[in-house]
Amino acid sequence: MFGLKSHHRVGLDIGSHAIQLVVTEKHGDKTRVLGAWTRDIYSAANEKYDLDGPKKTQIVPIVLDMFNQAGMKPKRVSHLGSCLSGLNMATKEIRTLQMPEDEMASAVTQEARKHLPLDGSESLVDYQILGDDTREADKVRVLIAVTTKRMFDAHLDMLRELELKPGVVDLEPLSCVNSFILRNELPDDGVVCFLNMGARRTNLVILGRKDMFFSRDLPVAGWSFTEDIMTKLNCTFAEAEEIKVRQGITAKGIKAVGQADAGSLASSLALSDRSPLDRLYDEINRSIRYYVKETGQSGIMKFVLFGGTAASQELCDYLAQRFSVPVEAHDPFRHLEGHVDVKNRPQFATAVGLALRAQAIY
Ligand SMILES: Nc1ncnc2c1ncn2[C@@H]1O[C@H](COP(=O)(O)OP(=O)(O)OP(=O)(O)O)[C@@H](O)[C@H]1O
Ligand SMILES: [Mg+2]
Repeated sequence: MFGLKSHHRVGLDIGSHAIQLVVTEKHGDKTRVLGAWTRDIYSAANEKYDLDGPKKTQIVPIVLDMFNQAGMKPKRVSHLGSCLSGLNMATKEIRTLQMPEDEMASAVTQEARKHLPLDGSESLVDYQILGDDTREADKVRVLIAVTTKRMFDAHLDMLRELELKPGVVDLEPLSCVNSFILRNELPDDGVVCFLNMGARRTNLVILGRKDMFFSRDLPVAGWSFTEDIMTKLNCTFAEAEEIKVRQGITAKGIKAVGQADAGSLASSLALSDRSPLDRLYDEINRSIRYYVKETGQSGIMKFVLFGGTAASQELCDYLAQRFSVPVEAHDPFRHLEGHVDVKNRPQFATAVGLALRAQAIY
C-alpha cells in the first residue's frame, strides 16, 4: 500500500518491552500520519521480561509482521528513522570556542570520550551546534551524542536482517524529545523536564530555550512497577502486567500474598524497600538539584512525559503533587494531520520523533 511512494516517512522504535512503527506523509510543511502500530515483545503467558533486551531472533519476525500489517515492504522504505536505546550511550551539551569544522570534530570527540561507559569497542561521536552561548560571546553551544561502534553495528545488523536501509539513526533520549520540540515551543524562560518512561529505564532530559541541555538515565521505569507487583502477589510477568494496566502502577487495593492471614508481606517489603514511585522521585529530585546547582536555574516549569508508562494517570498525579509543577503526558500526534486509533499515545513519542527526523532524508 505505502511502499511504492517515496514521500512516506517511517519511524521505528524497537524497545526492550514493545515495538512501535509510525508512517507519515509530508505535505509541504505539514505532516499527515498514515498509521501507527505497536506490539509487545513478550506476548506469551509464560514469557519472562529480559532486562538485557530482546534477541534479534525475537524482534525480526515481529517487525516484519508489523510492516506486513502496514502494507509496506521494508525493502521499499526510503526514509527511515530508527534509534539506539539502552546502555552505552550519552548526550551532553558543551560550550566551546567557535572553530573550523575539522577542529570542532576532533575537540568534540575528545570531550565525548570522557562521558561514555566503555564496552571495549571504539566510540562513535556525532554533534550538532545548538546556537550561540548567550553568556560568553565567542563561544557556541554544542550538543554531543556518543555511542559505541559495537552498539551501532548491532543495530545496523538488525536493520540489514529486516532488509531496511538505515536512514537517520538517533539516540532514544533525543528522539522522543524531538517529537515535542519539532512541533511545540519551549517556554521563553525556564526549563522543561522530559521523562521518557519505557520499561527498562527512564531517560530524563532537561531543556530550555536558553539553558543548558542535560540528560541522565534513571534506573526506575515500567519494569520496576511490574516487578514490585510480581513480588507482592507472587504472580507471573504477564499477570503483573495485566494488573498494572487495569489497576494502576501501584496496583492499589490489591492485597499482597499472605497479607490477609499470615501477616503483611507488603508492609514488611515497604519497610525494607522504598516503593518504585518513591525511588523515581528520589532519582528525579537528585537530577534536578544537580542541574539547578550547575546552572543556577531556579527550577522546572513543567514535566512532559513520554513512553508507555506515561499513560499512568497515577504517575502524572504523583509527580504533579510531589514537585508542584504541571505534568503533561505528551500526545505526539496532536500536531500532526490525520487520525490514528491508538490507546497509549505517549508510547509513540519516540517513533513519531523518528518519523519527523526521517523527513530530513532526501
Ligand atoms: N496503560 C498503562 N499503564 C501503565 N503502564 C503501561 C501502560 N501501558 C503500557 N505500560 C508500560 O509501558 C512500558 C512499555 O513502554 P515502552 O513501549 O515505551 O517501553 P520500551 O520502549 O519497550 O522500553 P525501553 O525503552 O525502556 O527499553 C511497559 O513497562 C508497560 O508495562
Ligand atoms: Mg523505549
